[in-house]
Amino acid sequence: MAEGGISQRKAEHLSIAASGAADFHRPTLLDEVHLLHCSLPERAAADVDLSTQLLGRTIRAPLMVTGMTGGTPAAGEINRALATAAAAHGIPFGLGSQRAMLLHPELAPTYQVRSAAPDVYLFANLGVIQLAALSTAAVREIVKKVEADALCIHLNPAQEMAQPGGDRDFRGALDAVARVTAELGQPVMIKKTGCGISPAVARRLVEVGVRAIDVSGGGGTSWTAVESQRAQGAEKVRGQELWDWGIPTAAAVAWLAAEGLPAAGIDVVASGGIRTGLDVARALALGARLCGLAQPALRAVQDHGPGGAAAYLGQVIDGLRAAALLTGVARASELATAPRVITGELAGWLAQRPR
Ligand code: FNR
Repeated sequence: MAEGGISQRKAEHLSIAASGAADFHRPTLLDEVHLLHCSLPERAAADVDLSTQLLGRTIRAPLMVTGMTGGTPAAGEINRALATAAAAHGIPFGLGSQRAMLLHPELAPTYQVRSAAPDVYLFANLGVIQLAALSTAAVREIVKKVEADALCIHLNPAQEMAQPGGDRDFRGALDAVARVTAELGQPVMIKKTGCGISPAVARRLVEVGVRAIDVSGGGGTSWTAVESQRAQGAEKVRGQELWDWGIPTAAAVAWLAAEGLPAAGIDVVASGGIRTGLDVARALALGARLCGLAQPALRAVQDHGPGGAAAYLGQVIDGLRAAALLTGVARASELATAPRVITGELAGWLAQRPR
């Protein structure tokens, strides 16, 4: 693909996803999680401990900014702004797919954030299809080039099926995950891009050594919707048909918790439609170790500059602190066992958990 091609695609992704015109129509179902109010918290809000661990590293709050972009000068600015904002809060930051810099090494600077955020917990990012075609040494080189601490591997067959010219052959993905997880020498997280991860797929990932899974479920940005807006003809129709394809974020997290992943030491990350601190509290109550968000952080940078992203992340973290205090827990991680009521459609999903 010509450089103009992939850079143009990245620019279109940013503007369509940020506009909100490609949001899921269906919800995350996190609103169906009701944490019980505690009228006697007997604690100072400042004393609620929000810290947690991701892949063995301590982070200050159970939140991260997940991978979005790279490949254009504007994307480079966004990456540096978001990395700086995440670093200010002591939370991780993910780069977008580094496929563009694989094809065009001169685009590497658009992924380089280390000078702007020397201490940020940084995730490199590759799609599993690219991974399958690369030697582990080449993957290591890509991670090293951006001085990342860990690698996110994204699985996105639904997006590819809707993307004009997208991949149509998904063989070899699990083998590639197994090989890179075993050989890379740095922590690996598997993430979806808004369709969720089922218990059966999570089990296969864990079996090959994966220790962190970001479910990225339905209810936030829909990548079939993003692609349908770029497509024409039959592909456009397919993207529209699959607009709401996927497992709602709340159901995906609760299913993986019921499957025993958190108890087995697997870090489950909840993303896809996380917008507020209350969303984070509810996802932690379902068993997530931390939450991730993408689109709202992008919007905050686009609307209010680099400081806007830090302010937005601060607002989410403050919201979580308030919800944890009002639930009566001393640590956000204790939300996993806090009393809660699950209603409506989410209760239906949980009752029908597949094996
Ligand atoms: C994304 N996402 C994404 N994920 C990934 O692993 N590699 C990528 O290159 C991208 N690119 C990307 C671009 C933009 C503009 C957005 C908004 C998102 C997916 C992202 O990390 C996340 O999984 C989903 O967007 C769901 O989260 P939100 O947006 O609902 O908070």
